[in-house]
Amino acid sequence: MRKNIVAGNWKMNKTYQDAQALVSEIDNMVRDEVTHENVEVIVTPPFPFLNSISKLIQGNSRMHLAAQDVSAHESGAYTGEVSAAMLKSVGVEYVLVGHSERRQYHHEDADLLLKKMKAALAQGIKPIFCCGEPLEVREAEDHFKYVAQQLRETVAHLSNEEFDQVVIAYEPIWAIGTGKTASSAQAQEMHASIREELSSIFDAQAAYNKTILYGGSANPGNAKELFSQPDVDGGLIGGASLKSRDFTDIIKSF
Ligand code: 13P
Repeated sequence: MRKNIVAGNWKMNKTYQDAQALVSEIDNMVRDEVTHENVEVIVTPPFPFLNSISKLIQGNSRMHLAAQDVSAHESGAYTGEVSAAMLKSVGVEYVLVGHSERRQYHHEDADLLLKKMKAALAQGIKPIFCCGEPLEVREAEDHFKYVAQQLRETVAHLSNEEFDQVVIAYEPIWAIGTGKTASSAQAQEMHASIREELSSIFDAQAAYNKTILYGGSANPGNAKELFSQPDVDGGLIGGASLKSRDFTDIIKSF
């Protein structure tokens, strides 16, 4: 069965103390309230908090840890970079790759994203690969082609075994942080199109099994409708993941 995932991407928010408090609340609420067996909860705090949060969630088998970025390099003279081996050594299991904010503000291109995925995979860390179109592409009705191309130039270059470890997140850029979520129909048709594309690159079974998350202004009010779509397997949550109540209510939307 395809795995359901709700991942919170905290982006550049929270101090150490706030982060500890938030994750403790989420940890408790997930223990007390989440009954759905097939859902993994992922938190994605900033780098300095990974080690302590890893210890905090250790006893909760539903909770998993992701990093927001990883270096494409193995080790060495790369000031400011964080390697996959470092992430692994503090218990990180997933890493975001290809988030639109990194593509936009850090000019990360397909070649670099593929290297980052390979670096993570070499350490047994699972990439959450983000794709999604800007508003002008949606308005020109080129969005299916645009996202297919994002997959063709990155994920398509992984081996079958590597691809098995990847989670896909569809995040239309016009919906991120704007309060303007994609409709459940828009999400469903893009997720189906992504699955179709993956099935032509890999095979039908691998594509069928793939967890594809939706991200972009998801909240407790719209998550149920989004998650009820047959090809939407969970969410990558920004703003609403910074509040334990909202984040837990989203997880409970399955
Ligand atoms: P928002 O949920 O704040 O729109 O952010 C989505 C996102 O970018 C998650 O990675």
